[in-house]
Amino acid sequence: MIKRCLFPAAGYGTRFLPATKAMPKEMLPILTKPLIQYGVEEAHEAGCNIMATITGRGKRAITDHFDLSYELEHQIKGTSKESLLTEIRALINTCTFTYTRQNEMKGLGDAIYKGKVLVGDSAPFAVILADDLCVNPDGDGVLKQMVKLYEKYKCSIVAIMEVPKDKVSSYGVISGKEIEKGIFMIDNMVEKPDADKAPSNLAIIGRYILTPDIFEIIKNTKPGKAGEIQITDALMTQAKKGMVLGYKFKGKRFDCGSLDGFVEATNYFYNNMEKKK
Ligand code: UTP
Repeated sequence: MIKRCLFPAAGYGTRFLPATKAMPKEMLPILTKPLIQYGVEEAHEAGCNIMATITGRGKRAITDHFDLSYELEHQIKGTSKESLLTEIRALINTCTFTYTRQNEMKGLGDAIYKGKVLVGDSAPFAVILADDLCVNPDGDGVLKQMVKLYEKYKCSIVAIMEVPKDKVSSYGVISGKEIEKGIFMIDNMVEKPDADKAPSNLAIIGRYILTPDIFEIIKNTKPGKAGEIQITDALMTQAKKGMVLGYKFKGKRFDCGSLDGFVEATNYFYNNMEKKK
C-alpha cells in the first residue's frame, strides 16, 4: 500500500567537510555501498518501488548512482567484478527514481513539502533520512516494521529510540501514552529541546510514515527552531488534530551524519558482513 519513499538529501553535510565539498553526504560509503543505497534497499524491502529524492546543488552523483553506467558495465562484463553490481542493478530494474530540488535549505519540513510533486497527495508515503542507517539482523527492516504498523493504525508514524538525557538536544523528542508495548500515542513533540525541558528521552530518528494531509499542515507551519520549517512542529499539529504514533523500532540505528556514528557503522558492517564472506 505504501509505494513511495521520500529521501530528503538536500543538506550540506557540513560535519563531513571537506569530503562533502563536492560529493553528497548520502554517497559516503559504509564499506563499498553508499548510505543512500542502504536506505533505498530498506524502502524496497518494505514494499516501496518509487524512490523520490530531494536533492540540491552538487548532488548529481546520487542521480548517476541509480542509473546504468554503460561503459563500466561493458568493461566488467564476464569478469568476477560483475557480481559487485548485482544489488544496484536489481534496484535500478525494479524501482523508479525521481528527483526534485530544494533550492534553499529551509529545513526538513520544507524539504518534505518539496516532495509533494513527487509522491502526490493522495496516499501515505515513507520518508528515510539516509544518514540514519538502520539494520535489523533478526527480522524485518525498520521501515517494513513501520509499514506493518501503518496497516493497523492508518496514521502518521515516527520511529523513536531512547537516547541518553544529555543527547536529547540533538533530536526531536516525543512523549505520549504507551498504547501497546513500544507504541506511543504522541501528545507532545519538541524539536531539539534543552535536556531539562525535554518531554522524555524518546528521540525521533530518520524514519517516518506520513499521511498526505501533512502537506497542508507543513504549508501552514511557521519556521521554528533555527528558523527552519520543522517536520516535528507539523507532526505536533497533526497529532493534535488526530493521531501520530511513535514506534520503538527493533534493530540498530547508526547516526552516520556524525563521525562517531559513521565509524561505528563501518566497524559493525565490517565485523558482521565482510568477515562472514
Ligand atoms: P541534517 O541537519 O542532519 O543534515 O539534516 P545536514 O545539514 O546535511 O548535515 P550537517 O549538520 O551540515 O553535517 C537531516 C536530513 O535532512 C535533510 C538532510 O539532507 C539530511 O538528510 N535536509 C535537512 C534537507 O534535505 N533539507 C533541509 O533543509 C534540511
